[in-house]
Amino acid sequence: MTAHRLSPEHDPTERIDAEHVSIIVDGEQLTGSSGSTIAGVLLENGRDSWRTTSRDRRPRGIFCGIGVCYDCILTVGDERDVRACQRRACDGDVVALQNEARPSEEGEAS
Ligand code: FES
Repeated sequence: MTAHRLSPEHDPTERIDAEHVSIIVDGEQLTGSSGSTIAGVLLENGRDSWRTTSRDRRPRGIFCGIGVCYDCILTVGDERDVRACQRRACDGDVVALQNEARPSEEGEAS
């Protein structure tokens, strides 16, 4: 199953995208609907995964969407392991993706 966000004209909640927020994700400026979570802004911009697992490098993004699974973690400002599905996007947020090797892999030749 792939998460995605409906365009306003196909959204049964009849949301109105009158205001927008702008965030920086790994140096790229993304714009999303005001009130969205960071995950919502990422989905709105066509990104359905934004990190990889440390063990097998499998893509991860939204899984539960309710703050339970921690699959959606990223860094916001200096704060690591922020759940993108739980953090409301604020204008000017600087977001970094977390794609890190397991500690045992650091320094190992591949
Ligand atoms: S998607 Fe599960 S905690 Fe964010």
